[in-house]
Amino acid sequence: MTMNIAILGTGRIADGQLAPALTEVDGARLWSVLSRDPLRGREFAERHGAAAENAVHTDLDSLLADDDLDAVLIASPDKLHAPQCEAAARAGKHVLTEKPMATDVAEAEAMVEACDRAGVTLAVAYHMRWHAGHRQLAAAVHAGRLGTLRHMRAQWTFLADSDENWRASPEVGRWWGLAGVGTHCLDQVRWLMVPSCGEIIVQENLISRDVWKGPHDETALVVLGFESGATAEICSSVLFNAPKRMEVFGSDSYAVCDDTLGPHGGGAISIGGEPMEYRVSNPFVGEIADFAAAVAEGRAPEVDGREGMRNVATLVAAVS
Ligand SMILES: NC(=O)c1ccc[n+]([C@@H]2O[C@H](COP(=O)([O-])OP(=O)(O)OC[C@H]3O[C@@H](n4cnc5c(N)ncnc54)[C@H](OP(=O)(O)O)[C@@H]3O)[C@@H](O)[C@H]2O)c1
Repeated sequence: MTMNIAILGTGRIADGQLAPALTEVDGARLWSVLSRDPLRGREFAERHGAAAENAVHTDLDSLLADDDLDAVLIASPDKLHAPQCEAAARAGKHVLTEKPMATDVAEAEAMVEACDRAGVTLAVAYHMRWHAGHRQLAAAVHAGRLGTLRHMRAQWTFLADSDENWRASPEVGRWWGLAGVGTHCLDQVRWLMVPSCGEIIVQENLISRDVWKGPHDETALVVLGFESGATAEICSSVLFNAPKRMEVFGSDSYAVCDDTLGPHGGGAISIGGEPMEYRVSNPFVGEIADFAAAVAEGRAPEVDGREGMRNVATLVAAVS
């Protein structure tokens, strides 16, 4: 049976990545869209072939009242994720929400509880977990190829040309660089390290807000310590372009990922200085396919609400 999915929001990630990826997922299709602007919604629905007869909604309740709708993909600003998720759960719809799933831990908990209560699936869209090279690397790391993990670094920055975006202001966002890219770095660190290093038990943060002088993080340095004694460093920034890079260090070897962070699914990965071959694929297709399969099979998605909530807790601690 085909899963009918609505996308909430018509912005950059919805238009550029999620809706195109959805056309490549077996057993799922774009059904409808929520937009504040009916014309923008109609153009989005037409551009991406939304299948519902009444595909465009400017009101969430009207979108959710559709009995043929199975799930929503939340691609709105961060502070809207929680109320939209809870409304979707109450209407019995499964939820795949963009990252970060919420802007505080209480919101994230409410999302998890609402979905549990309704018996619907809640997944968080950390698409970098479906980067084919990262998956191959994670399998090698989890199998002990690097030995005992000791340290990891993840760096993802970009150069913002303006603070006139919702992430830079408090109305519908809570973090800037940390929500845009730092949360992905943190998710990669958690994915690779937590299985053998245990949970994060130490956190130190240095946050700069000195250039745009707004409320949110410009450069963020987050240093983490795990139960095993292993450590990690995350650097996110909106102030400069830098190589996107991850490094994982173990007692026996190390791995380096150059330019793999991003939407494209490519970049170079090496283990112990030797290139690691992998087949490039679209990570957004993988993330939506995992969500659809989790619903169909009645299993947990790869990144569930509780894991998304742990990520939010670290982001909150970074700026508190
Ligand atoms: N996985 C990734 O790598 C990735 C990359 C980028 C973004 N994201 C996440 O996806 C979500 C959306 O980010 P984006 O970059 O796509 O943002 P965006 O381009 O600003 O799009 C957000 C969309 O949400 C809708 N919206 C509803 N209320 C809004 C409000 N008060 N202010 C602004 N927009 C509002 C808008 O659609 P209408 O105008 O049609 O209502 C808007 O186009 C965020 O949670 C972000 O963290 C994830």
